[in-house]
Amino acid sequence: MPQGPGRVLIFREEIAVRVGELGHAIAREHAGHVPLLVGVLKGAAVFMADLIRAIPAPIAMDFMGVSSYGPGTRSSGAVRLTADLSVSIEGRDVIIVEDVVDSGRTLDYLRRNLETRHPRSLRVCALLDKVERRQVDVSLDYVGFAIPDRFVLGYGFDLGGLYRGLADIHVLEDFPEV
Ligand code: PRP
Repeated sequence: MPQGPGRVLIFREEIAVRVGELGHAIAREHAGHVPLLVGVLKGAAVFMADLIRAIPAPIAMDFMGVSSYGPGTRSSGAVRLTADLSVSIEGRDVIIVEDVVDSGRTLDYLRRNLETRHPRSLRVCALLDKVERRQVDVSLDYVGFAIPDRFVLGYGFDLGGLYRGLADIHVLEDFPEV
């Protein structure tokens, strides 16, 4: 198991419990339908892998890639699609699966993009919600943890492409964010 910097903010056991709760909530609220979970690359891949196994019902999954331009460790500025879905979502019950909602720009872009494709329903499941960072008003249907404005690593979250494989979510206390 790789070692990580900083201190642990959310331990793997807490993540597992919460992901289990989210999975059951999704199954309950989509009873009789097969939701299509759309993971947002790359960060959400780890969460997605656990979440689909926590849903005690049939699901389908796909991925989208997005890239946001902006300096430093913050996502900011314009959002652009780098990889599209491989299936039609028309008439489907779609759940966007995000690792974190920060400014809300990525999610706002994804919502607008996916709504043009006429899904039957469109919901959002985010593992982390950095509420105080929000710049665009976006609604979240399922949230794992609301966290303070800190730089996180592990469980899909990276620093320069590294540390995504850590099992716990770490926080860098004094990381100079811009
Ligand atoms: C992160 C995260 C969200 C987005 C949230 O992606 O996965 O997609 O930023 O920020 P926002 O609410 O301010 O738009 P990132 O650009 O770090 O890419 P990654 O998932 O590939 O690490």
